[in-house]
Amino acid sequence: MRTTLKIILPLIVSVAAVSLLFAAYQVRTEKRNLRNDLSRRAEILGESLQENVEPLLERSQDKNLQRLVERFGQREHLKGVAVYDSAGAAIAITPALASVFKSRPTAASRAAQEDKGIGEFLRADQINSDNQEAAIPMHIYALPLHSNGGMAGTLSVFHDTSYIDLQVSRTLRDSLLTALVQTILITGLALILVRWTFTGPLTRTAKWLRTLRTGQPNAHPALSNGEILDQINDEVTHLARDLTTARASAEEEARLRDSNASLWTAERLRVSLRNKLQEKPLFVVSNREPYMHVYNERDNAINVLVPASGVVTALEPVLRACNGTWIANGSGSADRELVDAHDRLRVPPDHPSYTLRRVWLTDEEDRGYYEGFSNEGLWPLCHIAHTRPIFRPEDWLQYQKINRRFADAVLQEMEGTESPILLAQDYHFALLPRMVKEARPDARVAIFWHIPWPNPEVFGICPWQRELVDGLLGADLIGFHIQTHCNNFLETVDRAVEALTEWDRFAVNRQGHVTRVRPYPISVAFPENSHVINETPSVGAERAALCAELGIEASLLGVGVDRVDYTKGILERFHAIERFIEMNPAYQQRFTFVQIGAPSRTDIERYRNFLAEVSAEADRINARFQTSRWKPIVFLKQHHSHEEIARYYRAASFCMVTSLHDGMNLVAKEFVASREDERGALILSTFAGAAHELSDALLVNPYDVSQVAESIHRALEMPEAEQATRMQRMRHNVREHNIYRWAAHLLSDLTEIRIEIPDRVETTQ
Ligand code: G6P
Repeated sequence: MRTTLKIILPLIVSVAAVSLLFAAYQVRTEKRNLRNDLSRRAEILGESLQENVEPLLERSQDKNLQRLVERFGQREHLKGVAVYDSAGAAIAITPALASVFKSRPTAASRAAQEDKGIGEFLRADQINSDNQEAAIPMHIYALPLHSNGGMAGTLSVFHDTSYIDLQVSRTLRDSLLTALVQTILITGLALILVRWTFTGPLTRTAKWLRTLRTGQPNAHPALSNGEILDQINDEVTHLARDLTTARASAEEEARLRDSNASLWTAERLRVSLRNKLQEKPLFVVSNREPYMHVYNERDNAINVLVPASGVVTALEPVLRACNGTWIANGSGSADRELVDAHDRLRVPPDHPSYTLRRVWLTDEEDRGYYEGFSNEGLWPLCHIAHTRPIFRPEDWLQYQKINRRFADAVLQEMEGTESPILLAQDYHFALLPRMVKEARPDARVAIFWHIPWPNPEVFGICPWQRELVDGLLGADLIGFHIQTHCNNFLETVDRAVEALTEWDRFAVNRQGHVTRVRPYPISVAFPENSHVINETPSVGAERAALCAELGIEASLLGVGVDRVDYTKGILERFHAIERFIEMNPAYQQRFTFVQIGAPSRTDIERYRNFLAEVSAEADRINARFQTSRWKPIVFLKQHHSHEEIARYYRAASFCMVTSLHDGMNLVAKEFVASREDERGALILSTFAGAAHELSDALLVNPYDVSQVAESIHRALEMPEAEQATRMQRMRHNVREHNIYRWAAHLLSDLTEIRIEIPDRVETTQ
C-alpha cells in the first residue's frame, strides 16, 4: 500500500495543480472577455447617445433630454444614463442613479479633461431592492459632449456588471469541478494500471514462491508470457526449478541416510564426488568415446551415436558435476566435423556440460594398436578362451606410440590443474599410467582393467609383459572386477618385475612408488521405475509380439545378448540347446532361443570367422529340428538398441550367459535389473566375474554341454516361487551394487590416496 501511495500521491498533486492552473486561466480569460464585450457595447451605446444628446444640448431642451435618458435606462444590464453640464452637475439622469451620481464621476471628469471617451469599472454604494445599501459593481463609460463648437458637458453610460461576477464564479465552479473529476479519473486509472502491471503480478509471484517454498513443486508459474515482468518471471522460474531440484536431491539424500541404505544414485555420486574432488576436474581416458558422430549414408547428415556403455552411465554424472574432460579416440566418420581447433567439443550434445577431447589415429596406427596388439594380443592373452594371442613387434611399436599420444593429450588437458585426477580405462592403455605419472608426479592416476587378468604363467606368454606391468605400476591405483584378478596381478608383478609386493595390504612398492590393487565389481544403473511396470505389456503379450515379429510360433523364449566374440561361449551355448532339444523333444515347437549378436571387431579375421561360424552352427542346428513355423535358434546378427533388448529380456523365460571367460559380464546384471516382475531365470557361467555376486543364478560350466542343457531344462521348469526368490535376491544385489557404487568406490579411493612427490609430501585430500 505504501508503495502504491508513493506512486499515486505525486500523481494526484501534479494532476490537481495542473487542473487548478488551467481553471484559473479559464476564469481570467472569461472575465476579460466579458469586460471587453461590455466596454465595447458601452462605447457603441455612448456614441449613439452622444449623437442624440448634443443637438438637444444646443437647443437647451432639458425635458427632452430627461425623456431620452429615462428611455435608454431600460436596456439590458444598463443601469442608467446621466448627462452632466460642463461644471459637472447632472442636467438629466436616470432616476435610480440620481442619489449616487448627482455630480459627475471621475471617469466623466477625465473624459471632459481629455476630450475623449473613458471607461472604468468600479463599485458604487446603492440602495438595493431590500432598501439596504450595497456596493454594486458597475461599469461607467463617459464621453465628452460638444455644442456650438465648444465643450458642453459629459455623457455617462452606467452598466451593472454583477452579471459578469456571476458568470465568472459559475465558470470558476465548473472549472474546479472539472479539475476534481479529472484528478479522480486519472488517479483511479493510474491505480488500476499500477495494480494490473506491478503490484498484482508481484503479489502473485510472491504467492507462487511461497507455494513452492512450502513444498508444492508443481505449482503453476504466476505470470503469463508477454508481461512486462518477463525477465523476472524467467529468472524466478529458473530459481524455482533449481530450488525444486535441490530439494528433491536433499530429500533423496535424507531418505537414503534415513533408511540407512547404502544405495548409490547418480545424484549421490555427483554430490559425493564433487566434495571429494574439491572443484577439480576429473580426467577420463578410454579408447571408445562416449559420443561418436557418423555420416548417415542416405542423406549425408551427421548422426550422434551413444554407446550403451555402463562406464559412460557411471562417469557422466561425475564429469558433469566437475566439468571434467574425457579423452578418447575419435573414430566416427564425422567426428572431425564437430571439434574445435584443439580437437575438443562439449558433450552431451543436448546438454553440454563436460569436454570430449578427440585423439586421431591413422588406419595403420589403428591396425597396430587397436586391432593388433590390444585385440589380437592382450584380449586373447587375458581371456582364457583358447584363442592363441598374436604378438607382432610392429603392433607393439604402435601400441607404445599410441599410448604416448594419448598420454600427451591427457597431459595437455591437465595443464593448469593442480594435482589432477585421472581414470584410465582398460587394456588399451597399460603404458599410459607411467607416462602420465612421470610428467605429472602430483597427479592421482588410476586404471581400471575391464577384462580378466590371467595367472602369471599365461601372462608370461607376452614378450613385453615386463613393460606392460611396469607401465601399469605407474598408477596409484589399479582396479579389477574381482579379487582373483587382483591376486593374479600381484603374482604376475612378483614374477615380471623387481618390486615389493605387499600382500597384506594389496599394494606394490616399486622404486618407492606405491600402487594399490583393489577389486571394484562393475555394474549397471538399476532402474528405479516400478511405476512403469503397469505400462509395460505382460510377459505373454510381449512374447507373442516378438514371436510374430520373428515369424515363429513358440510359447517359451530364452535369450542371449553378446558382442559376437569367441570369449562369450556362443557356440557352446548353441550346442547345449541342441542337446536340450534332443533330450527333451516335448519342447520342440514350443521353445525358441533368441541370440542377439552384435557383430564386433569385424576387421579382425578371427572375429569375422567366428561370426560366420556362429551363423553356420545356428543354421546346422535349426536344419535338424525346424518346421515351417518354428526353429530352435533365432540368430539376430545386428546391433540392437537398449530398448529393443529390454523387450527380449522381459519376454524370456531365461537369459543365458555362457562366457568362457569374462571380466564381469553386464548382460547378466542387465537381465536381472530389467525383470521388475521378479520372474525368469539366469543361466550364468562360473567363469564370468558376475558369478561371484549372482549366486542365485543357475551356475554352469559352459564347456559342460550336458550341464548347460540340464540348466536350460531347470530354468524352463522352475516353479514361479523359486524364480521369484532367486530373482529377488539377485535384484537386491544388483540394486545395491550398481554402477554408481562402482564409480563412487573407485574414485573416492583414488581421491583419498596420499601422493608422495620426491621433493615434497602432499597431504591426503
Ligand atoms: C570390452 C572392453 C571394452 C570395449 C568393449 C567393446 O567390454 O573391455 O573396453 O570397449 O569390449 O569392444 P570394442 O573393441 O568395440 O571397443
